[in-house]
Amino acid sequence: MADQETLLIDHKNCEFKAASTALSLMAKYSTYVDLLNAMSRLAREELVHHEQVLRIMKRRKIPLRPVSAARYASGLRKHVRTHEPYKLVDTLVVGAFIEARSCERFEALVPHLDEELAKFYAGLLKSEARHFQGYLKLAYQYGDERDVDQAVIRIRDAERELVESPDSEFRFHSGVPAF
Ligand SMILES: [Fe+2]
Ligand SMILES: [Fe+2]
Repeated sequence: MADQETLLIDHKNCEFKAASTALSLMAKYSTYVDLLNAMSRLAREELVHHEQVLRIMKRRKIPLRPVSAARYASGLRKHVRTHEPYKLVDTLVVGAFIEARSCERFEALVPHLDEELAKFYAGLLKSEARHFQGYLKLAYQYGDERDVDQAVIRIRDAERELVESPDSEFRFHSGVPAF
């Protein structure tokens, strides 16, 4: 709460990256019709969130400045296997974790925020809950059930490490504050 400006800028960047990740999945898996439909809808929704954060920032006169990405998403992507179909499975599972963790962060923040931001974040929380389920559903659709189960366990361990270990940088998805 001490640095809401950085929080909002990083949040804005996250919404953009969520849209951009969905678009790049569409480019890479251009023959997977259910993935295309889900990711197209997701990209549009994330861009709307992006615009909503921008609007709030403008109203609050928070100037835009470059904020580097958290270690979180890149830390998770290190655990994505390099061969198909496992690469797609892991990418979708990583997407599910990012969305689910965002959901957790929004919920934790809501009781501490001013009315406008609390209302906005409470709405986003519901979107993220839907998004994580959507990613997981696609993973089970395109992957082998047991392999997806194992990918969830493996990526969950990596994810836990990223949120429970000390982190020198404050971001929306940072670990335990060490600053
Ligand atoms: Fe979003
Ligand atoms: Fe999302």
